[in-house]
Amino acid sequence: MVAMVLVCIYLLCLLRGSTAENTITPGHSIKDSKADALISANGIFQLGFFSPGNSIKRYLGIWYKDIPIRTVVWVANRETPISGTSGVLSITSQGILQLTNGTDSIFWSSNTSRPPLNPVAQLLEAGNLVVRDGDENREENILWQSFDHPSDTLLPGMKLGKNFITGKETFLSSWKSADDPAPGDFSLWIDSRGYPQLVIMKGPKFLYRDGSWNGIQFTGAPQLKKNDIYSFEFIFNEKEVHYTYELYNNSVVSRLAVNQSGLLQRYVWVDPTKTWIVYLSLMTDYCDIYALCGAYGSCNIQGSPVCECLEGFVPKSPKNWGLLDWADGCVRRTELNCSQDGFRKLSGMKLPDTSSSWFNGTMSLKECREMCLKNCSCTAYANSDIKGSGTGCLLWFNELMDVRVFNEGGQELYIRMAASELDQIGKQRHTDGKKLRIIEISSIVVIGSLITGALFFIWKKKHQIQVSTEIEERKDEDANNDIELPKYDFDTIAIATDNFSSKNKLGEGGFGPVYKGTLRDGQDIAVKRLSGNSGQGLTEFKNEVSLIARLQHRNLVKLLGCCIQGDERLLIYEYMPNKSLDYFIFDRNSITMLNWHMRFHIICGIARGLLYLHQDSRLRIIHRDLKASNVLLDKAMNPKISDFGMAKTFGGDQSVANTNRVVGTYGYMSPEYAIDGLFSAKSDVFSFGVLLLEILCGKRNRGFHHSDHYLNLLGHAWRLWMNERPLDLIDEFLLNNCAVSEVLRCIHVGLLCVQQLPEDRPNMASVVLMLGSDNSLPQPKQPGFYTERNPLGIESSSYSVNEITSTLVKAR
Ligand SMILES: *[C@@H]1O[C@H](CO)[C@@H](O)[C@H](O)[C@H]1NC(C)=O
Ligand SMILES: *[C@@H]1O[C@H](CO)[C@@H](O)[C@H](O)[C@H]1NC(C)=O
Ligand SMILES: *[C@@H]1O[C@H](CO)[C@@H](O)[C@H](O)[C@H]1NC(C)=O
Ligand SMILES: *[C@@H]1O[C@H](CO)[C@@H](O)[C@H](O)[C@H]1NC(C)=O
Ligand SMILES: *[C@@H]1O[C@H](CO)[C@@H](O)[C@H](O)[C@H]1NC(C)=O
Ligand SMILES: *[C@@H]1O[C@H](CO)[C@@H](O)[C@H](O)[C@H]1NC(C)=O
Ligand SMILES: *[C@@H]1O[C@H](CO)[C@@H](O)[C@H](O)[C@H]1NC(C)=O
Ligand SMILES: *[C@@H]1O[C@H](CO)[C@@H](O)[C@H](O)[C@H]1NC(C)=O
Ligand SMILES: *[C@@H]1O[C@H](CO)[C@@H](O)[C@H](O)[C@H]1NC(C)=O
Repeated sequence: MVAMVLVCIYLLCLLRGSTAENTITPGHSIKDSKADALISANGIFQLGFFSPGNSIKRYLGIWYKDIPIRTVVWVANRETPISGTSGVLSITSQGILQLTNGTDSIFWSSNTSRPPLNPVAQLLEAGNLVVRDGDENREENILWQSFDHPSDTLLPGMKLGKNFITGKETFLSSWKSADDPAPGDFSLWIDSRGYPQLVIMKGPKFLYRDGSWNGIQFTGAPQLKKNDIYSFEFIFNEKEVHYTYELYNNSVVSRLAVNQSGLLQRYVWVDPTKTWIVYLSLMTDYCDIYALCGAYGSCNIQGSPVCECLEGFVPKSPKNWGLLDWADGCVRRTELNCSQDGFRKLSGMKLPDTSSSWFNGTMSLKECREMCLKNCSCTAYANSDIKGSGTGCLLWFNELMDVRVFNEGGQELYIRMAASELDQIGKQRHTDGKKLRIIEISSIVVIGSLITGALFFIWKKKHQIQVSTEIEERKDEDANNDIELPKYDFDTIAIATDNFSSKNKLGEGGFGPVYKGTLRDGQDIAVKRLSGNSGQGLTEFKNEVSLIARLQHRNLVKLLGCCIQGDERLLIYEYMPNKSLDYFIFDRNSITMLNWHMRFHIICGIARGLLYLHQDSRLRIIHRDLKASNVLLDKAMNPKISDFGMAKTFGGDQSVANTNRVVGTYGYMSPEYAIDGLFSAKSDVFSFGVLLLEILCGKRNRGFHHSDHYLNLLGHAWRLWMNERPLDLIDEFLLNNCAVSEVLRCIHVGLLCVQQLPEDRPNMASVVLMLGSDNSLPQPKQPGFYTERNPLGIESSSYSVNEITSTLVKAR
């Protein structure tokens, strides 16, 4: 008998022991002081107390039990940490989970819709902490669950969205910081005010719109597609809207989370290397920033600049638009007539913001069109579901916001236009097409450069409008080749510069002072007054000048003319109101004046200017002194490479030359040039790489200091890259509003350009392509010149000769 009782007690204890692992009932608790925890039956998740990052405060949370990098997927008391290890979690007989510090003060509690008879809290295998009535794990028994109150992580099976009956919304919110799980600035929602769309908000504003569900995927995220790791589902009916996913194989560990920078990322755990890898990142480029191009603007990541107005629309504020401030957006060129309107079909689009759109899931596209046509305030329509040949109707009644063009995976959008506008553009397009073809052929024949041709085609494919301007430029350029460079009268220039008065002096170059001037017609100019003793013949001077004059590209500073009178030799350039790049990137006070998209625009512009120098078949120029102070900015902040004082031309198939006189600027010179005097297009690529990293980091390569090491900026960038913390390179100000993938790509390209061996570095044609695409890039090797701060002891520019004498001296 006694033995029986003992066995019974023993069995009870065993039972209690095993159930205590993942459940608590009234009268039992989890104590921080005893390091208690609940562990899900499959051993994957653990609930307990922890301190995040460097914090010493205590939180109750759920994390992966066996993952050595503690990854917390849910936190109970996000805003009310407990100091010290006095935390206790218990469940009341009313079925309410309570977190106290052992006294009466409640730090966090759950809620319940009805009082249970037999309350139990259990950590389920999916990582869901539930309170239910009774032992049976049925949905109707669940009184509360942590899956309804997510933190920053969406686990498999969790539903993100809204229940239209109860009004309950489930959303993710980022942590404040690695040390503080309190809700931060960023959150992920399904916005169901109009046609539901997935959005990331920063505070009360949209930061990024994944877009509406089109039956296959979210319209703004073609990269989120069918894959081997997880399946996903979007449910939208009268009762609810939600997004959820399931893993195909439960031995794979994967989660979706909003990080503290507002990036929504899917992570997959890689056990052999014990790391989380980012499997998918939403909001990957600049165009993903919400409404970057304003109303009726369209973003094209391959464009330069990225924003343009939709066809038939013009910038609302051309001045701001020209300054790359696109927030004002665009307006119709021709007002709608209402009764006489039509639609323009655009393909490959991310559909506009649907937060106040109207929809009907069963209408056909034809009915949809009619419906839109009938209502004068309807601005656009589209199929709501693009499966098969498409069904459903989406109508917009306001300005079209946050539209972008995809190279692949976009959908069709029909925009209401005045009938006259439709005719006009139809015609214009036709003639443009003809013009394009003729110029295309002739330019390929004339220019004779395969590479230019190839790029030209790529550009054309990607960006119709841009190509036509490019062509105009080429045409102008060819015409200019026959035109002699304008000669200015010395007196004219003297008057323009107020007799070279010191108040008009812009600076002192290596070859003489530079003045600002204003011609009688109001045009601003910059005048370089060369010091008299150049020792160069007049014919030579003229030849050289006409050579520079022939370099015409929108990313090269333009020489307007020259003046030769007596001993005076003047060069007249277009005036650049916004100074040089070094002023913006290195000066702490002006650093915030250049946001990320301007920087990216500048980087791409410099790359194109350099590509033009390197690959123009007639001249093929190595600049040899590319640096931040030689990049000038026009009024629209377009970068223009200047100062060809060191430049050299290369003959037909020559690619490397040697010089005894190494000129250039320390910090930007490649090793083979600085040490052996060997220069080639690849030495310019090196300088470009240095400049690129400087633009990202906001510090000079030369004179870079870091408390941890004695490396220069290149070494610092390389070290961060090797330690997989490349973003630490970036100026803090930039990180707040940048496209992380674009920044990473720039760092990557920068490191490729500064590799030790010239043959490892890409040429400028590849650089331009790399910056504009998202193809994978090779791993960079160790950069040149990254350890010693100043291996040559060269202090700064070693200018030794007059600009004109050294300009474009034919390489030997
Ligand atoms: C519990 O928290 C309350 C309120 O924060 C505090 O006054 C009290 O000292 C704490 N008690 C313990 C044991 O930490
Ligand atoms: C608890 O739920 C009730 C009804 O469901 C609600 O009115 C109340 O505001 C909730 N309390 C908390 C703290 O969430
Ligand atoms: C799940 O993945 C594991 C490990 O990769 C593999 O051994 C197993 O066969 C997979 N299971 C299924 C159902 O695919
Ligand atoms: C957010 O994710 C990106 C990309 O993985 C990462 O570089 C960044 O450091 C993260 N932000 C924070 C604050 O952890
Ligand atoms: C629209 O165009 C038609 C034909 O050109 C014209 O008769 C009508 O008055 C116009 N309506 C408006 C509102 O401008
Ligand atoms: C959607 O359109 C169909 C066909 O035109 C119509 O029968 C149905 O009532 C509409 N539904 C709603 C909610 O407007
Ligand atoms: C046009 O649609 C808007 C938005 O749905 C609605 O408020 C307005 O009444 C409609 N106008 C007409 C004439 O149907
Ligand atoms: C400009 O300077 C020259 C010589 O320095 C002088 O003769 C001339 O009068 C000046 N002209 C003006 C407009 O100041
Ligand atoms: C660039 O120059 C224009 C025209 O002078 C000026 O309006 C603008 O503010 C300048 N931009 C910056 C960033 O300084």
